[in-house]
Amino acid sequence: MSIKITDLTPGFVGEVSGVDITQPLNTEQVAALEAGMDRYAVLVYHDQRVSDDQQKAFSISFGPLEHTAGGNLTKVAERRLDAYMADVSNLGVDQKPLARDDRRRLFNLGNQLWHSDSSFRAVPAKYSLLSGRIVVDAGGNTEFADMRAAYDALDAKTKADIENLVCEHSLIYSRGTLGFTELSDEEKQMFKPVRQRLVRVHPVTGRKSLYLSSHAGTIIGWPMPEARAFLRDLNEHAVQPRFTYSHKWTEYDLVVWDNRSTMHRVRRFDETMVRDMRRTTVAGESVTVEQMAA
Ligand code: OGA
Ligand code: MN
Repeated sequence: MSIKITDLTPGFVGEVSGVDITQPLNTEQVAALEAGMDRYAVLVYHDQRVSDDQQKAFSISFGPLEHTAGGNLTKVAERRLDAYMADVSNLGVDQKPLARDDRRRLFNLGNQLWHSDSSFRAVPAKYSLLSGRIVVDAGGNTEFADMRAAYDALDAKTKADIENLVCEHSLIYSRGTLGFTELSDEEKQMFKPVRQRLVRVHPVTGRKSLYLSSHAGTIIGWPMPEARAFLRDLNEHAVQPRFTYSHKWTEYDLVVWDNRSTMHRVRRFDETMVRDMRRTTVAGESVTVEQMAA
């Protein structure tokens, strides 16, 4: 069995066959998958019946895992999964859908906004690996936007204007857009803004991409309303249908994306239904810009 990757969306989303990720992979297999990630930016695997441990073992092939602390409001005693598994489900520890007004649920609704994972961290994420353990029939698609193609399609003047811009990203901004503003002092401290370049260069391919995210709330040195209006405009450009792909989930799909060159969001679904999605995240290697002292 050898690894094959075919186009779902040419140059953006590939479909992988010929690999069982529940088993240890050799270095050639890992290299082939990593090359696939660089060539595309999203890879879809089907029928990967992983346990959490197997998902973590596979993820580590691509680098150290990112710890989930600092990315959510869930208290340790309320966690359904271990600290290296991001719980992207709509479930509580009792495995039942969270109540409509549950604070954790309201916070997680932020995943319906276009974003790049962990752009609110000083060192943002490399890959995200999302496993669909229990999926819903209607709604709940995950959509992806190719931020390299979106960058390439900008006019020369805009490219020059944004080349050296730096944004501030924070969960406070993204949740604030939804009117979720009640945060304790401790949470506000945890979600302190970080700085990210607006144009980033992929470390392997050298391709530039627009580094946007719902977490981006301002541009350093710009008046706030002007920054927000411009970021909104860039977002509208970046998520045009010609740059996007929508993934309809089948149980035990695994979708892997490069956060350095994509955005994603989940679409609305009936939250009385169980949707059990589990994400591992491969940590990034560097900051995109120097951070200010705290
Ligand atoms: C994520 C995420 C979307 C989804 O896992 O980072 O945004 O489809 N999830 O649940
Ligand atoms: Mn996400």
